[in-house]
Amino acid sequence: LIHLLSIEGLPREIITHILDTASNFVSVSDREVKKVPMLRGKSVFNLFFENSTRTRTTFEIAATRLSADVINLDIARSSTAKGESLLDTIANLSAMAADIFVVRHSESGAPYLIAQHVAPHVHVINAGDGRHSHPTQGLLDMYTIRHYKKDFANLTVAIVGDVLHSRVARSDIHALTTLGCAEVRVVGPQTLVPGDMREMGVRVFHSLEEGIRGCDVIIMLRLQNERMSGALLPSSQEFFKRYGLTPERLTLAKPDAIVMHPGPINRGVEIDSAVVDGKQSVILPQVTFGIAVRMAVMGIVAANTREIS
Ligand code: CP
Repeated sequence: LIHLLSIEGLPREIITHILDTASNFVSVSDREVKKVPMLRGKSVFNLFFENSTRTRTTFEIAATRLSADVINLDIARSSTAKGESLLDTIANLSAMAADIFVVRHSESGAPYLIAQHVAPHVHVINAGDGRHSHPTQGLLDMYTIRHYKKDFANLTVAIVGDVLHSRVARSDIHALTTLGCAEVRVVGPQTLVPGDMREMGVRVFHSLEEGIRGCDVIIMLRLQNERMSGALLPSSQEFFKRYGLTPERLTLAKPDAIVMHPGPINRGVEIDSAVVDGKQSVILPQVTFGIAVRMAVMGIVAANTREIS
């Protein structure tokens, strides 16, 4: 694995290897062990062309715990604002001896474009591109599910909400089906569920009650207002009435079901506060596991180099 651009097409063995490696890093991510020297002398450039709280910060923590030098480019104050192109920005940062680019961009495919243009020793990690892919979120979600449920073989997982605009949903679906999850469901209004879900091996539900009935895992998604035009956008109250996860609705899932959410959360829109803060919620542990998973991804890609011809 030279770059991590998507979960689609990643073999089961590689996903499992990343999750196993992450479990070895949990003691570093929770500060029992302070640091490991794996990326000493390497430079990790965080390039977030779109806003982030969790992904950017946990990548920074993960790189620091691996002993890398971390550079967070402040995109709003960078020369991107003066019209410098994405590839010129990358060329100039490469001239500062970057080893890993962590890239978030609102355009699907931007990390792929960068990966085609970097030198053979440079690695690109997709930290979320448009509505296409968010591979490290998918991996930390799999880590979380495996942590609480041990095995994917007998699990029913429901992904609920604005699936259409969600790069997390796509990454989770690819990962869950590759790992042999028994049943993957998506739940949402007709307008917010993409047409290719059945081809991806997923059951589609438009009723929340039906969709979460008997589930082991519920992954809630926010309405991605920034990716919707007026006609598509449901009102918050309307959405909560039909698709908001409340404590009453949660009783339809298995009693030991876990509730996940990639964040950011909109309380009272897709999920009730009592569920966010309730005992079935593993939303904050997801964030913590993200550190170990991102350490694993950076450690693994940095250990691989392309043939230089
Ligand atoms: N889950 C996620 O990508 O959150 P951020 O946008 O805060 O990074």
